[in-house]
Amino acid sequence: MLNIAIVAGGDSGEYGISIKSGNQVELHMDRAKFCPYLIEIRGKNWNYRIGLKKFPVDKNDFSLTIGKRKIKFDAVFVAIHGTPGENGKLQGYFDMLEIPYTSCDVTTSAITFNKSFCKDVVRPGGINMAKSMHLFHNRPVSDAGILAELALPVFVKPNNGGSSVGMSKVNLKKELGPALAKAFEADSEILVEEFIKGRELTCGVIRSEGKIITFPVTEIIPKKEYFDYEAKYKKGMADEIVPADIPAGTSAQCREISGMLYERLNCKGVVRFDYIHTGKDFYFLEVNTVPGMSEASIVPKMARAHGWSFTELITRLLKEVL
Ligand SMILES: Nc1ncnc2c1ncn2[C@@H]1O[C@H](COP(=O)(O)OP(=O)(O)O)[C@@H](O)[C@H]1O
Ligand SMILES: [Mg+2]
Repeated sequence: MLNIAIVAGGDSGEYGISIKSGNQVELHMDRAKFCPYLIEIRGKNWNYRIGLKKFPVDKNDFSLTIGKRKIKFDAVFVAIHGTPGENGKLQGYFDMLEIPYTSCDVTTSAITFNKSFCKDVVRPGGINMAKSMHLFHNRPVSDAGILAELALPVFVKPNNGGSSVGMSKVNLKKELGPALAKAFEADSEILVEEFIKGRELTCGVIRSEGKIITFPVTEIIPKKEYFDYEAKYKKGMADEIVPADIPAGTSAQCREISGMLYERLNCKGVVRFDYIHTGKDFYFLEVNTVPGMSEASIVPKMARAHGWSFTELITRLLKEVL
């Protein structure tokens, strides 16, 4: 039997979502093949729990000791969204211990988690992207300086973030200052990006048995102005249509771009590429290298539409690294 650590939790605003992802992965992991251990990572506290009893992870070799039994892991299923599971930090740790894991490697995780640097790597691939500015806390730019470069409305987002935490849509000039302040509370760098009007489409991609497989394209229809935190996680605040009701050619194009980006960014495991489709063109927004795996999340629904159960999705992700 293979021992699998599912790491969940983490240190970002996505902690709660990650715990849900971890729980679902544990619930659906094939017990005939794998023995799952859900490990919560929160700051320096890394624990496995049985009931109320906590078993701390030995960080020297990422092992557990339960009674007289020492448990080592054959692979890690990464279910931490945000830091330290989606930005390369844990990936570096596991690389040094030579423990395989289901997510992208250190470099890809670190680059893709930085929204602006990710765009810089994607850009030469010829993909459309919203015009943007990458701002740093210690190098302030005036509102006028920003508005000289970018046209309203703009999105102001923490550059290293997720789940729309700390993000605002700015329609009016007077809203820019407060939006910048809010984003800088969440991160020391931010991305200011022109708003692209269109339909929001997302495509999951996985490598399995040596092949890159794209899942059916999904349309996100938020009931809010955009796909903000509430629209993402509050029941009924967004419709997610799998497969999207779009022309076959549009869907094929989305899948083709996504497969190409998966290779260009050297992705591993399952990732989700987000776009705005203007009716004519695709604009790349971002890639989620540790996408949600909760009951309500998009990737498990995409996998189902592709014909895979959640259990099969997990098995394929693990088989790829074992
Ligand atoms: N440039 C943009 N044009 C239109 N909508 C955007 C733009 N940037 C972000 N959004 C909206 O905001 C949501 C969250 O932005 P995103 O960059 O994906 O950040 P996060 O990592 O927090 O998910 C998107 O799903 C989309 O609804
Ligand atoms: Mg997003």
